[in-house]
Amino acid sequence: MLDLNVFPRTFKWGTATAAYQIEGAAHEDGRGISIWDVFSYTPGNVKKGDSGDVACDHYHRYAEDFRLMKDLGMNSYRLSIAWPRILPKGRGEVNEKGLAFYDHLIDELLKHGIEPFVTLYHWDLPQALQQLGGWANRDTVDAFEEYTRIVVNRLGDRVKNWITHNEPWCAAFLGHGAGVHAPGLKDVGVSMQVAHHLLLSHGKAVRIIKEHNPEHKVGITLILGPSHAASESAEDQAAAARHDAFLNTIYLDPLYGRGYPKVLFDHVPQFAPKVQEGDLEIIATPTDFLGINYYQRSILKHTEENPFNFEGVRPPGPEFTFFDWEVYPQGLYEVLTRVQQDYAPKEIFITENGATFEDTLTEDGQVHDEQRRFYIERHLKAVQDAISEGVPVNGYFAWSFLDNFEWAEGFEKRFGLVYVDYPTQNRYVKDSGKWYSKLVKAALGAV
Ligand code: NOJ
Repeated sequence: MLDLNVFPRTFKWGTATAAYQIEGAAHEDGRGISIWDVFSYTPGNVKKGDSGDVACDHYHRYAEDFRLMKDLGMNSYRLSIAWPRILPKGRGEVNEKGLAFYDHLIDELLKHGIEPFVTLYHWDLPQALQQLGGWANRDTVDAFEEYTRIVVNRLGDRVKNWITHNEPWCAAFLGHGAGVHAPGLKDVGVSMQVAHHLLLSHGKAVRIIKEHNPEHKVGITLILGPSHAASESAEDQAAAARHDAFLNTIYLDPLYGRGYPKVLFDHVPQFAPKVQEGDLEIIATPTDFLGINYYQRSILKHTEENPFNFEGVRPPGPEFTFFDWEVYPQGLYEVLTRVQQDYAPKEIFITENGATFEDTLTEDGQVHDEQRRFYIERHLKAVQDAISEGVPVNGYFAWSFLDNFEWAEGFEKRFGLVYVDYPTQNRYVKDSGKWYSKLVKAALGAV
């Protein structure tokens, strides 16, 4: 089904993780408190009261983890840096131990010939900045610039691929509109202002990285998905178009120089972010690639229940993950061809794609996760089809390397290609991981 000859020779084959989801060591070596510590310590926010305090203990086990990654044949890895390890108070005093940790971690990866893709912000804002208003406060953009400079100066001799932000839609809307992620605010207007500040800080960070070294590649990672209408009715079609703007084009349009989508803000002008002169030029600073995280599509119908006048309906299925997300590989193809047609990024990386299913570890240390393997295979086929049609996809990072802290869902939802037995911290490669490893080795000509 997959034809590996279609994937470019330079293709990055890897997995992805994020600092707070795997590192643990939340109170070690001078790390400051982040909004996710505060959020997960607050009862009722995270299932079973879980937190990232220990997680996969990757902070102490990264050398073994990277050995495993090397054995699996990966040539790349997407990770994130924890801002509160570098600047415990968000800005000002630098924590040398935090920088040293990532120094060693990057060296260890490179030793195994694994190319790092580093995300600067995967949601763990230092709590000290939240106390000043967090991303709703424009000053946080300056703090992010300061943080970016420090990280790039320290790691930029070895790290050459940078992702400024991970899924600003989640950070902005889930964190400040729906209130289901840190910092847990429920104010849609604020969430739009946060989106604007995240984008602004992205543009500024791109400039900093390019000034540091114009050869470095820099981009942003968006969560994207098709927004389909529940029916042919004009009302439902319009609802889907607004949802597309709410999830996708609110980021894509300004990043590619088109400003914010009118289809959304003509409808809800009360939520439009405050934009200062020059902001849109900064946001549209050219990037080298677009990172795409793909999980599912949305199906929308008109409703009078909220100001956006759209509401999600359950997709037809027949297959759903443990998160109750529909398995819809065709959506990845749709996203890729659409992005190519409308925005033509120079290069695209699938920076996340994967699924949670209820895994069981057998007595002999096996996890027979056929559904996950099949999920990844079909999504890779969608990538292949897009590449065949000229879409410049040059990498795929499965989410995730390890089972980890799945935000408000805690540890119950496992996404790893490698099973983590939390009480012992033993790692077991799942069947999906074995399959992916074989595929990657074949693609890289290693077997
Ligand atoms: C996207 C996020 O970037 C990641 O942190 C999360 O674990 C996965 N989606 C799965 O929900």
